[in-house]
Amino acid sequence: MGNLEYERLHENLKTLGMLKTSENLDSYLEIASKKSLSTIQILDHLLNGEVEDKLQRSLNFRSRIAKFPYRKTLEEFDFSFQPSIDKKTANGLATMKFVHNAENVVLLGPPGVGKTHLAISLGMTAVKSGITVYFTTAADLIEDLKQHSARGMLKERLRKVARYNLLIVDEIGYLPFDPEGANLFFQLVSRRYEKSSLILTSNKPFGDWGQIFGDEVVASAILDRLLHHCTVINIKGESYRIKDRKRVGLLQREQAGDQQKEE
Ligand SMILES: Nc1ncnc2c1ncn2[C@@H]1O[C@H](COP(=O)(O)OP(=O)(O)OP(=O)(O)O)[C@@H](O)[C@H]1O
Ligand SMILES: [Mg+2]
Repeated sequence: MGNLEYERLHENLKTLGMLKTSENLDSYLEIASKKSLSTIQILDHLLNGEVEDKLQRSLNFRSRIAKFPYRKTLEEFDFSFQPSIDKKTANGLATMKFVHNAENVVLLGPPGVGKTHLAISLGMTAVKSGITVYFTTAADLIEDLKQHSARGMLKERLRKVARYNLLIVDEIGYLPFDPEGANLFFQLVSRRYEKSSLILTSNKPFGDWGQIFGDEVVASAILDRLLHHCTVINIKGESYRIKDRKRVGLLQREQAGDQQKEE
């Protein structure tokens, strides 16, 4: 191969964004010539490397933009500790059919029972299967929407959020919504209805959502849309955090301390 063609080949690979092929080319051509590989074998190897690299880069990109607070997987979840969760239902959700059907998931339960863990692990599974995900808390989401609204950018922001195939909103119910926040959340749910999926987590049963949103009518309009196509996982049981503290004997010591204080 002449010098001119060689240079043009590298230039063209760069123009086409085939950086991995450009990087692998020289060493692989040397191996190919030593092993007398066919042109098809050479092309197959180089293009395979390029595709693998592209898939890995887009996976890394989706993981970055998802903004998970930490990483948790379904495999790490101890279903025997939380028998109120049907493992089959959780595994069914992990197939991502609910995202393809634009359905929702709501995880309900008291503190420490694994709502955020399950939401993140479903989000990570989604990212791995090529789905775009965004994780946020209710408080951060409303703050973000309010800021955009104040700058007259609400429509653009809602449009951008709508582009994520899966939106995870954690911790609904820990802080009440003010009327503007409740209205913004309604708009968001309404926009995604039957178009794209939501995973919501809450420490409060649906009966209390009127209080959370400060308005029974808004809460029921939100719930109506949300629950139309939805899997609800109602987790009942002990906090896993307490289990961990029990294991290291902290809880007994804490309780003993409390008793001493009372005496
Ligand atoms: N069944 C479980 N198996 C393994 N780890 C668990 C399980 N349940 C909870 N955990 C772990 O316990 C910790 C608390 O769980 P998580 O944050 O998901 O609780 P939560 O229901 O979201 O609570 P909160 O309402 O306080 O936010 C996390 O580190 C999580 O990974
Ligand atoms: Mg949580």
